[in-house]
Amino acid sequence: MATMRALDHIAIAVLDLDAAVTQYRERLGANLIETETVESQGVRLAKLDVGGVTIELFQALDPESRIGRSIAKRGAGIHHLAFAVDDVDATLEEYREAAVPLVDEHARPGSANSRVAFLRPEALAGALVEVVEPDRAKSETGNSEESEGS
Ligand code: CO
Repeated sequence: MATMRALDHIAIAVLDLDAAVTQYRERLGANLIETETVESQGVRLAKLDVGGVTIELFQALDPESRIGRSIAKRGAGIHHLAFAVDDVDATLEEYREAAVPLVDEHARPGSANSRVAFLRPEALAGALVEVVEPDRAKSETGNSEESEGS
């Protein structure tokens, strides 16, 4: 079965990204890694380092989008865990063969040129989990600072 390499990030849905970033910096001593707008996922996000763990805070670009309505309905809070894999396509193939419930049958673009796919929460005892294949070009050029998290 699929092999998870590391915890890539913990994603937290927020209603006000700038306010949330300030809270994480002031109250957890978080260091801001980068901010990014990911149009394909309809979000603006900020990645922060907290004690070596990447926390991804994200806000919906459009409150009427699918993700916007989902956040409004469920409220702000922990949204998903993301684990890094070497090959997201191979991982999805294994899941499809094992009939694991998937949100994404095929990988889609994630932040920082990663490729991602989500499993349905019923696949993992109620938690939404994402598998992430980090940007290969970046990791192959050995730019370790930038290939951290995504
Ligand atoms: Co994520």
